[in-house]
Amino acid sequence: MAHVTFRPRRLREKRLLRRMVRETALSVDDFVFPLFVTHGRGVREPIGSMPGQFRLSIDELLKEAKDAAGMGIPAILLFGLPAEKDPRASEAYAEDGIIQQAVRAVKDRVPDLLVITDVCLCEYTSHGHCGVVEDGAVRNDPTLELLARVAVSHAEAGADMVAPSDMMDGRVGAIREALDEAGCPDTPIMAYSAKYASAFYGPFREAADSTPQFGDRRGYQMDPANGVEAMREIALDIDEGADIVMVKPALPYLDVISRAKSEFGLPLAAYSVSGEYAMIKAAGQLGWLDEKRAMMEALTSIRRAGADIVITYFAKDAARLLEHGAEV
Ligand code: PBG
Repeated sequence: MAHVTFRPRRLREKRLLRRMVRETALSVDDFVFPLFVTHGRGVREPIGSMPGQFRLSIDELLKEAKDAAGMGIPAILLFGLPAEKDPRASEAYAEDGIIQQAVRAVKDRVPDLLVITDVCLCEYTSHGHCGVVEDGAVRNDPTLELLARVAVSHAEAGADMVAPSDMMDGRVGAIREALDEAGCPDTPIMAYSAKYASAFYGPFREAADSTPQFGDRRGYQMDPANGVEAMREIALDIDEGADIVMVKPALPYLDVISRAKSEFGLPLAAYSVSGEYAMIKAAGQLGWLDEKRAMMEALTSIRRAGADIVITYFAKDAARLLEHGAEV
């Protein structure tokens, strides 16, 4: 090769040089670890399509929470499995509901960990939809009132942040107003702003038993083909008072993450969902790819795209590797 001034390989040859010029750093500080809570004692029920993840009773949740805090993971995100489902999702806003009990327990026993709660109705409704169903349709405005009650009940139980994931119009504003009126003006909202109607939620729906009994979620979650609309959704949520905005899923929507980061100045979260976790786990178990490397590469690419916060079921696995100085 003739004389060239720039030879990119010069900086690739040595591990320490690569480390010096690396643009994106993955850190345990960026992780949020989602967990599923269920009634009972001593329950640690494996979730078939999410190897390594469990439905946990509160005593087991506390062990998991201590473990996460000990590894330096700053936050967990809680999903609840109610004792009973009904059309109006009663346990979602019950004072002694599973999440309300779980929040109180974790805040009491593991003070050095943020507890974020998922605010939605789908795990609690008998029909499995994220809103109130009337005449076979998911009704927007009647749902807002229930979502606001859910959020206030979580905040009153001590949640550090609430995360509405239902995709009803106007829910961030309704929740903000209700929190303020209930004397919780300092509870932040992390809004699932651009949440797509995705096949990648499949394993989660098994875990949370939240598959809709009729129809699907395309009437409220976003069309995977739309990017401009995601920016409008995010702008709307910021306007209504969101403190952190989210794109979900992560890997198939890295372009949306990147766009959101460059268009808005807010902290941006990306949710690497159950299906993303399951794909890597399954291929790893089959020996079709190196699970640990695939995990680190995927998480790094979500950060590279522009996410400040990565919500991932791999949080503990990745934290463990990072502790030992693992690199992509
Ligand atoms: C709704 C909710 C879902 C997820 C988080 N919150 C499922 C859905 O919209 O059907 C999916 C998370 C995942 O797949 O990991 N409460």
